[in-house]
Amino acid sequence: MVMICPSMLSADFTALGDDLRAVESAGADCIHWDIMDGRFVDVITFGAHVIAAHRRLSSLRFDVHLMVENPEKHIMSFVEAGADAIIVHPESTAHLHKVLTQIKNFGKSAGVALNPATSVDCLKYCADLIDIVLVMSVNPGSSGQKFILSQLRKIEQLRREFPKTAEICVDGGINAETASLCVQNGADSLVTGSYLFKSQDYAVAIQNLKNCKKNQ
Ligand code: DX5
Ligand code: ZN
Repeated sequence: MVMICPSMLSADFTALGDDLRAVESAGADCIHWDIMDGRFVDVITFGAHVIAAHRRLSSLRFDVHLMVENPEKHIMSFVEAGADAIIVHPESTAHLHKVLTQIKNFGKSAGVALNPATSVDCLKYCADLIDIVLVMSVNPGSSGQKFILSQLRKIEQLRREFPKTAEICVDGGINAETASLCVQNGADSLVTGSYLFKSQDYAVAIQNLKNCKKNQ
C-alpha cells in the first residue's frame, strides 16, 4: 500500500506538535519537513532546531526535503536533529555525488528531488547512492499548487528504469484523484500538505489517499 507523508508546511504553525501527533495517530507513515532558505526558493521556512524539537514527539520516519543552496553545509545539523532521510535538489549543489555520499556516511537514507523540468538523467551516475527519488509535481516553494500532469511520465520512467530498491515519492498537488494517477504510474509514497491539513478528519483523508488505487 502507498505510504503517506504529511508535509508539516501546511500544518498549524502555532501547534506543530499537536498536528504532528494528530497525523501520526491518523495513520501517517512518515513526516515530510520542507526546509526553504529564501535563496534556492523565495520562502524561508524553518531549520534544524524545529526538527530536533519535534523528534522526541514521534517515532515516525522524518524526511527532510532541503530546498536550500549548498545543502552540504547543513547535512550534519539535520542528522543531529534526528532526520532519517535527507533529500536534496541537484540544482542546489555543484557536488551531488559528494553530498549524497555525505548523507550515506551518516547512515541515513539519501534522496534526490527532481524539479518538474529536471530529467531523470542526472541520477544515472549516482544511482547506487539513492534511496529515494522525490518527483516534484509542482515547482518547489509553496503548498497548495496544482499538480503538473507531465510528471506522471517521469514517475513511470523511474519505475521502469530505476533500481527497484529506490522509493519513488511524489510531492505537490496530491489529492485523491492525483494520488490514484501517481500510484497507477508506480509511486511508492505521496507527500500531502494542503489536502490533508485542510480536511475535517485527518484519518479519513489519509485513508482516502491510501485507498486511491481501488477507488478508480
Ligand atoms: C513544495 C513542497 C511540498 C508542499 C506540498 O515546495 O515541497 O512538500 O508542501 O504541499 P501540497 O500537498 O499542498 O502541494
Ligand atoms: Zn517537499
